[in-house]
Amino acid sequence: MAKKVNDNGPGYVGSIAPHGGTLVSRLLRGEMAEATREMAQSLKTIVLSPMNVSDLELIAVGAFSPLTGFMGQADYQSVVFDMHLVNGLPWTIPVTLPVDEETAADIKIGQSVALAERTPEGDLHLMGVIEVSEKYTYDKRVEAEKVYRTTEDKHPGVARLYRQGDVLLAGDIWVFDLPLAARTEFPELRHTPAQARRLFARAGWRRIVAFQTRNPIHRAHEYIQKTALEIVDGLFLHPLVGETKADDIPADVRIASYQAILRDYYPAERVLLGVFPAAMRYAGPREAIFHAIARKNYGCTHFIVGRDHAGVKGYYGTYDAHYIFDEFDPDAIGITPLFFDHAFYCKKCGAVVTAKTCPHDPSEHVFLSGTQVREMLERGEMLPEEFTRPEVSKVLIEGMQRRKRGRDRR
Ligand code: ADX
Repeated sequence: MAKKVNDNGPGYVGSIAPHGGTLVSRLLRGEMAEATREMAQSLKTIVLSPMNVSDLELIAVGAFSPLTGFMGQADYQSVVFDMHLVNGLPWTIPVTLPVDEETAADIKIGQSVALAERTPEGDLHLMGVIEVSEKYTYDKRVEAEKVYRTTEDKHPGVARLYRQGDVLLAGDIWVFDLPLAARTEFPELRHTPAQARRLFARAGWRRIVAFQTRNPIHRAHEYIQKTALEIVDGLFLHPLVGETKADDIPADVRIASYQAILRDYYPAERVLLGVFPAAMRYAGPREAIFHAIARKNYGCTHFIVGRDHAGVKGYYGTYDAHYIFDEFDPDAIGITPLFFDHAFYCKKCGAVVTAKTCPHDPSEHVFLSGTQVREMLERGEMLPEEFTRPEVSKVLIEGMQRRKRGRDRR
């Protein structure tokens, strides 16, 4: 496995360069961390939204390389209108730090501000600092239209955008303490890009395919994962565990669904399970590019894009997330997308197939909508085996019942 050292930054292990060539690290250690933590105590503090907490972690560990902080106005405009950073690299989703006008008025350019999260107990947990280089206003409707392709507030990503502050702060960040979730939520699966790259190298994998998901694992997922694995060395299962909308299945249940079948149905020496701490944007095609680039930073060479990737409620065409890759120079994206058609079980074929590979009438196909799945699970019914393995159904039913007991108690 090639070890590369860049001229202008830290080295990285792996067969693919990070986006922009350098694996960013904004995580301070040792004395630097202690000194910055000490300094942060006396600074003005901003409490980050759950999405910004995720962004902070992803910037700090290099998953958002080449970003070293929250975007300034030139990058913001260029990303929104042109899907590239000012330096010419593809980038499709703004990574910004919104605050309200009052907070912004209190902050001067050049000032360092502490970044904190609110703990479940209501305390503040200081994580890092931002060196504020700019503050600027922006047009939320334009961002909605360009990034989400809709201005409707029924879209969960647009709704979040409309709720957030009206001023964006920009600047490099330094992190001395990762968010609490890094210690409390799946710490053993929270491989940083540098760690993932080392694990791939140790396994001897040169060609690695990443799989993004915000759902439990169904047979269609398993089919596309294993089909992709046929042509590469290793599979990086990388469920997203940051903020999702309320009716998505909680991350712990989803991860349990993976763990339930990994041992018995996947070759351990060819699969790595990790978690991706990002928040879902539900930006469909643009988020597919964003997800792919982040996985390149983790050292993956290929990325799976299936049906309606990162889509929500019919806002995007089934294959819009495939078509958007045509708008970019493949070398600039760097990671190779592997496109899959809609997969489902066909009774006549006796297998999971896609419209590309199955000649039979749709009446032979097993389809369940998200609502049907949820209703069956709430009734405690196992999902059809052609749709989901029984081991997964059990985990999902238990998860639903735990959630219901939680709701009833409240
Ligand atoms: S996503 O929001 O993370 O994209 P999901 O977990 O549903 O949602 O999908 C994970 C990946 O699997 C995406 O690339 C998606 O396009 C793909 N996918 C999900 N279901 C299917 C299916 N039935 N057929 C083909 N691809 C699928």
